[in-house]
Amino acid sequence: MSPTTPWWRSAVIYQVYIRSFADGNGDGVGDIAGIRSRLPYLKSLGVDAIWINPWYKSPMADHGYDVADFREIDPLFGCLAEAERLIEEAHEHGIRVIPDIVPNHTSDQHAWFRAALAAGPGSPERERYVFRPGRGSDGAQPPNDWVSCFGGPAWTRLPDGEWYLHLFAPEQPDLNWEHPEVRAEFESVLRFWFSRGVDGFRIDVAHGLIKHPELPDLPPRQDAADGQRPRHVEHPHWDRDEVHEIYRSWRKVADEFPGDRCFVAEAWADTPERLAAYVRRDGLHTAFNFDFLMSTWDAKELRTVIDNSLAMLGSVGAPATWVLSNHDVVRHVSRYGRQSPARRWVANETYRAEGPVDLGLGTRRARAAALLMLALPGGAYVYQGEELGLPEVEDLPESVLQDPIWERSGHTERGRDGCRVPIPWSGRTAPYGFSPADATGAPWLPQPADWADRGVAAQSGDESSMLELYRTALRLRRAHPALGDGTLTWLDAPEGVLALRRDPGLVCVLNLSDEPYPLPGHTAVLLTSGPVEGGVLGTDQAAWLAV
Ligand code: GLC
Repeated sequence: MSPTTPWWRSAVIYQVYIRSFADGNGDGVGDIAGIRSRLPYLKSLGVDAIWINPWYKSPMADHGYDVADFREIDPLFGCLAEAERLIEEAHEHGIRVIPDIVPNHTSDQHAWFRAALAAGPGSPERERYVFRPGRGSDGAQPPNDWVSCFGGPAWTRLPDGEWYLHLFAPEQPDLNWEHPEVRAEFESVLRFWFSRGVDGFRIDVAHGLIKHPELPDLPPRQDAADGQRPRHVEHPHWDRDEVHEIYRSWRKVADEFPGDRCFVAEAWADTPERLAAYVRRDGLHTAFNFDFLMSTWDAKELRTVIDNSLAMLGSVGAPATWVLSNHDVVRHVSRYGRQSPARRWVANETYRAEGPVDLGLGTRRARAAALLMLALPGGAYVYQGEELGLPEVEDLPESVLQDPIWERSGHTERGRDGCRVPIPWSGRTAPYGFSPADATGAPWLPQPADWADRGVAAQSGDESSMLELYRTALRLRRAHPALGDGTLTWLDAPEGVLALRRDPGLVCVLNLSDEPYPLPGHTAVLLTSGPVEGGVLGTDQAAWLAV
C-alpha cells in the first residue's frame, strides 16, 4: 500500500459496543473509563480503529440509539471531558476513533421533540419531525401502513390527535430531513466532534433519512424465489436517491478537517449497485457490506458476494469492507454452527435461529471465515468478542431481555440481547473481569456460567485459541504488503474450495467442501485456521500461504 493511501481503505476496525465492553466504575454497564483501561489490549490485538456505539445522552430506550443530546455524553458512560481524553489516548496508542451518529431519529426526550409536543399541531416546531393527521373520519387510523422495524405500526398517536412517524421504537421519532434546520444541526454536530479529534463516523440507518414526500403506503411485498434476493424496487422510505445529496454535503464537512476523516454507512441496500451509490467519490467513504455477513457457508455464494462487492464498489473507486458480526445480528459462531442458516433480507431483523447449534462446527468455520475476511481486499470489522469466539447467548431468561424488539413484537422475537452480553476478560466466574472487583452492580445482562475459558486472560498465549488466531492474522496483515487495499485473483480450485491470490506473494485457500484439499504450491505456510496435517486442508479450514 502506498504511504499516501488513506488508512480507511484497508483498516481493521474493532466495534466497541460500549455497554458490554468494559465497566470502569463498577455499575455493571460498560463505559468510557472501561474503554480507556483496555486500550493496551486493543493495541496488542492489532486493530487500526475503534467504532464506538452511541455514547450520547439518552434515555436508553434503544440502548443509546435514542439520542437526547448529540453534544453530551450520557452519565452512564462518562462525560465529555472523558470522551476527549479517550480520543487523545487512543491516538497515542495509534488507534483511531469513530463514534456512531444517529441522524434518522432522535429520542422523544430531545429538546426538539419536547418542543414539538408542547407547541401542538401546525406549529413550526412539529415540522422538524414527521407529524400527520390520521386517516378515517375521526383520524383514528395511522396516516399510512408503514411498520416499525421493531414490530407494530410506525406511527404513534398523541392526545391532541396528531400522529408521528417512528421507523423504530415510539421513543425514536423520525426527523424530517427536508427541513433546513435538521440539515444544519447535523453538520454542526459533525463539526463539534471532528474538532474534538474523531477520525470519522459510523452513520446509523444511513439509508432511511429521506421519505417519499407523499408518504404513500408500502408497495406490495415482492417475495423472492427461494434463496434469491429480491430485486430493487423503489421504496417510500428506504434507500431513496435523494439521500445522497445529504452525504455530499457531509463529505464537504469532513473535508474541512485535516487528516483523513471517514464515514462508514450502515446502509441496507437491495443490490451491490445501490450500495455503491453511497460511496461515490463525492459521497461517503465506505459502507458495511452486509451481503458478506448474510451469505450462507457456501463457496459459490461467498464467491459471488465477493465478486459483486468488489466489482460494484470498485466501479466507483471505493474500497470494500467485510464484516461477519455486529450488535444487531446473531454471532457468527452460532450462525455457522447450524447446518442450514435461515436468511433474512429485511433490514435490521435478527436471524431466526432454528435447530441446535454445533459450537465445534461453528467455531471451526468462524476461524476459517476470519482468515478469508482478513485476506480480502479492503477494510474489515471485528465485533467485540468475535476475537474470543463468543457464541450467541440464546438462553437468556425472558425476564432479563431488554431489546425493545422483545416488547414490540409481543414477545415473539427475543431480539438482539444474545449478541450483546458483556464480554469476559479474566477470572473463573462472572463478571469475568468485565467489572472491577469492588463492583456494586451485576453485569447488565447475565454472562453464561461456562465463559471462564473464553476470557482474554484464559486465551492469551494459548496458540490454539481464537484470540491468538486473530492476533497473528492481524499482525501478518499489517506487515504483509499484499493484504489490505488492492485487488484479488481467483485461482483454479475444485468445487467447494476458494483459492485467491493477493499480490505480491500471498494465497488464501478455504475448503468448504467435504473432501480434503491438498495445499497448492507454496514457499511457506503463514497461518492456518486449525491444525493442517500432511499438507492437506480439511473441511472448513483455511490457510494463508506464501507463494
Ligand atoms: C441501527 C442500529 C440498531 C438500532 C437501529 C435504530 O440499525 O445498528 O442497533 O436499533 O439502527 O437506531
